[in-house]
Amino acid sequence: MGDHEPNRDIRNHYLFEIATEVANRVGGIYSVLKSKAPVTTAEYGDRYCMIGPLNRASAAVEVEALTPTNPELAKTIASMEERGIEMVYGRWLIEGAPRVLLIDTKTAYRFLDEWKDDLWNTAAIPSPVGDAETNETIVFGYLVAWFLGEYVAHEKEKAVIAHFHEWLSGVALPLCKKRRIDVTTIFTTHATLLGRYLCAGSVDFYNNLQYFDVDAEAGNRGIYHRYCIERAATHACDVFTTVSHITAYESEHLLKRKPDGVLPNGLNVTKFSAMHEFQNLHQQAKEKIHDFVRGHFYGHNDFDPENTLYFFTAGRYEYRNKGVDMFIESLARLNHRLKSSGSKMTIVAFIIMPAQTHSLTVEALKGQAVIKSLRDTVDIIEKGVGKRIFERAIKWHDGEALPDDKDLITSQDRILLRRRLFAMKRNGLPPIVTHNMINDSEDPILNQIRRVQLFNHPSDRVKIVFHPEFLNSANPVLPMDYDEFVRGTHLGVFSSYYEPWGYTPAECTVMGVPSITTNLSGFGCYMEELIENSTDYGIYIVDRRMKGVDDSVNQLTSYMYDFAGKSRRQRINQRNRTERLSDLLDWKRMGMEYVKARQLALRRAYPESFDEADDIDFIPGVEMKISRPFSVPGSPRDRSGMMTPGDFASLQEGREGLSTEDYVAWKLPEEEDPDEYPFPLTL
Ligand code: UDP
Ligand code: G6P
Ligand code: GLC
Repeated sequence: MGDHEPNRDIRNHYLFEIATEVANRVGGIYSVLKSKAPVTTAEYGDRYCMIGPLNRASAAVEVEALTPTNPELAKTIASMEERGIEMVYGRWLIEGAPRVLLIDTKTAYRFLDEWKDDLWNTAAIPSPVGDAETNETIVFGYLVAWFLGEYVAHEKEKAVIAHFHEWLSGVALPLCKKRRIDVTTIFTTHATLLGRYLCAGSVDFYNNLQYFDVDAEAGNRGIYHRYCIERAATHACDVFTTVSHITAYESEHLLKRKPDGVLPNGLNVTKFSAMHEFQNLHQQAKEKIHDFVRGHFYGHNDFDPENTLYFFTAGRYEYRNKGVDMFIESLARLNHRLKSSGSKMTIVAFIIMPAQTHSLTVEALKGQAVIKSLRDTVDIIEKGVGKRIFERAIKWHDGEALPDDKDLITSQDRILLRRRLFAMKRNGLPPIVTHNMINDSEDPILNQIRRVQLFNHPSDRVKIVFHPEFLNSANPVLPMDYDEFVRGTHLGVFSSYYEPWGYTPAECTVMGVPSITTNLSGFGCYMEELIENSTDYGIYIVDRRMKGVDDSVNQLTSYMYDFAGKSRRQRINQRNRTERLSDLLDWKRMGMEYVKARQLALRRAYPESFDEADDIDFIPGVEMKISRPFSVPGSPRDRSGMMTPGDFASLQEGREGLSTEDYVAWKLPEEEDPDEYPFPLTL
């Protein structure tokens, strides 16, 4: 502030968004950038570019290289390339086709020592040897600051906003400030380092937030230098934001700055022309999961697919933070309750969390292979039987008996079939895990499954499949993309203890899949705030704030147990209601908070321009793009106080800005009469 050239054009400002997950999936930040791309490119056109470190493997499939047409960008890239920095500029091959600039950090490691010294001298941030992640963060940060400095030297007319996500991209922030680079900056934290670390241990985090000695806690965990980067980024930016209220509160205490606002995460909601299309997709995807299950449980397929429900949890492997501990314990209790009540339902619970593995197990591959051979054999037999019936029918004369069933299957067919049946014999129980784990005996998930003895025994009503790798349609065992898999399931369970937002339940919601989350997740709190009787809408929220652990486990168990007791029709109705919440999570609505944050950043950097521009719509077209899908304004809940995450703080500082009520005024659509669905219900 105060270092900005006052004459820059703020209307047609340029926007850079900087993160390490640009065209490179790690976790939820990738989902933020990817799903938001359509609304941001609609707003900015070619005045928008994302910057990230180059990951060649992922860029090769996600990015198409282009020559930059923007002359200032081209000059900046050329001048860095002259100094030996390699980068890929191109189009990210996703909806919205945003431009991305991926910088190869490896080409700058020769500057590492120099930059580490500089970071210590200018920002008092230490960087011990041997922390590869921090080194990468420093190199990337210096490259971004270099880039931005050069860019504004070439681009002298337009204002530039640089929006940084997470500490991993944050080193550039104190540098921009120290070097007085003429950009205005936003920093969005998607978690805090200390929060993640403290929660992963056994600390009563939420009751002690105010009291932690942050430096000491960071030091004790060997992350003091990382914490310094995060804290420096927080304090150096013009506008500081986070993704939920719960993380705003945490940031205030652990990073010592109250966020200027909350930027909740949205999704790019797909609208089908036929309302029930998502129900058909559920059925189709479920069939594929059935196929996997038949293979995985070969020899033990003594449960009926019609009475089987698929539950799942998914995400980065954070055992306690993601609530996998609670999920497994609750599954054990659910198993007990289903058994003692004599339920005929079977629950197959999937855990999709990447761990270190060698490969798929032979057993997992064999399972799919034996079922495939069986299917092939049955197809051959079926064709032969058909042919024989046809031949005999042709030769049939009046008065003759119908062909005898016994003659239709040949003895050769029987031998073939018997061979397939023998191949399906197995000595042990169906496996829990699909991969060979590098650390099988110490893996926390496997150990807890062992502890609660959920071993896929025929008498168990709850079966478990642990898939320690993200899903992918090229996988030979479970060949489905994550989205398709989610559609085919019945219930997502995300009993997180630490979850700044939590994309996974939000993704379930827009696909019409009910989910369980907690009131310690940003998403859970957001939904709890907006919807009354959220369980009717397939949004179950476990209380992990006020209840003790045992009570929370029981609540989760009861939610799952009650869900298992629903009829098919009830499940279909509930999915319809869940899917109707999608608009609440659409970037067209959520993206407004980003718009406000950018306005505030410009206002803070260029207050003079704002006095002039006060009465004009200085980001033309934005208001028009934010659709309000339901004509009747109103609110699903009579609430005083916070209306949206954005109301947390002062994103609208100094002027009314865009009205929050405008975009959140939202009413749950009228209930349909279940008897009048425009599609057949298979009951
Ligand atoms: N995810 C995925 N493939 C999988 C399982 C999960 O791409 O097989 C994605 C999921 O779509 C979600 C992200 O991983 O967007 C996890 O994000 P979330 O915000 O829930 O948690 P984070 O990992 O960022 O803490
Ligand atoms: C969708 C399909 C129906 C199917 C149902 C199964 O609604 O359109 O044809 O019967 O899914 O639901 P379920 O909850 O049993 O998987
Ligand atoms: C972080 C959080 C997650 C959030 C994601 C996107 O990785 O752990 O809860 O959904 O960022 O904001």
